[in-house]
Amino acid sequence: MNMLGKIVLVTGATRGIGKAIAKRLKDEGAELVVTGRDERLLDAWRDEGALAVAADVTDNRQVENLVETIMERHGRIDVVVNNAGVTQDGLLMRMSDDDWNKVIDTNLSGVFNICRATIRPMLKQREGRIVNISSVIGVIGNAGQTNYAASKAGVIGFSKALAKEVASRNILVNVVAPGYIDTEMTQALTEEQRQNILRMIPLGRTGQGEDVASVVHFLVSEQNRYITGQTIHCDGGLVI
Ligand SMILES: NC(=O)c1ccc[n+]([C@@H]2O[C@H](COP(=O)([O-])OP(=O)(O)OC[C@H]3O[C@@H](n4cnc5c(N)ncnc54)[C@H](O)[C@@H]3O)[C@@H](O)[C@H]2O)c1
Repeated sequence: MNMLGKIVLVTGATRGIGKAIAKRLKDEGAELVVTGRDERLLDAWRDEGALAVAADVTDNRQVENLVETIMERHGRIDVVVNNAGVTQDGLLMRMSDDDWNKVIDTNLSGVFNICRATIRPMLKQREGRIVNISSVIGVIGNAGQTNYAASKAGVIGFSKALAKEVASRNILVNVVAPGYIDTEMTQALTEEQRQNILRMIPLGRTGQGEDVASVVHFLVSEQNRYITGQTIHCDGGLVI
């Protein structure tokens, strides 16, 4: 229970990796605030005692409302986990403006929107932890994912700059780059694609949301006092 009473915001926590992260931090005693876009799934979190707010990370007005709601309820924000993300794959030649913009707006501008809105209370508190979820694709690239790779590489650069900017206020900013994690996002792959990916993973198996949640938990807990600006891969050795 080393997150007892900490006010923790997890974006995109209605399913997949975000849900696993939120569950882990709640199990460790955190006061949870979750966002997502599906009201029915948010209700499930309300039943668990979390403050669940429907908010699209690409919409600055909704993000500002979200932060106001958190401040009214709790008066502080200790931890932010930027997990919300999307894919819209396609070869560059055929990629539409919409495919490009949707991915950049959600995965990169969404992180910017949430960080800008939550950094003020953290600066005042002179304490805080931010973890941004990137991807191994942001480091090694992948054919058919120029938009996604650009957004996730952007998250890494953004986090390094922010880590330097806020370090003097005792705010730690890190990135977790998952490899192949079993979620609805990865269910779209064919069995052949899945087997090809498995061959590239030294541990020989895919990861689970809980594997990512363990890394995030460490980074935002008091166990981590001296790591900032880093990207931790959680990928079974896919990128070594
Ligand atoms: N699954 C993987 O293998 C994998 C690998 C590397 C990185 N990631 C990253 O991990 C994160 C979670 O992925 P996942 O596999 O759980 O995906 P998922 O599709 O299962 O869940 C994504 C979550 O983000 C939310 N979301 C999407 N757009 C949003 C928006 N505009 N505003 C608010 N919420 C929004 C969705 O509602 C959902 O709750 C993403 O950032 C993804 O890029 C996933």
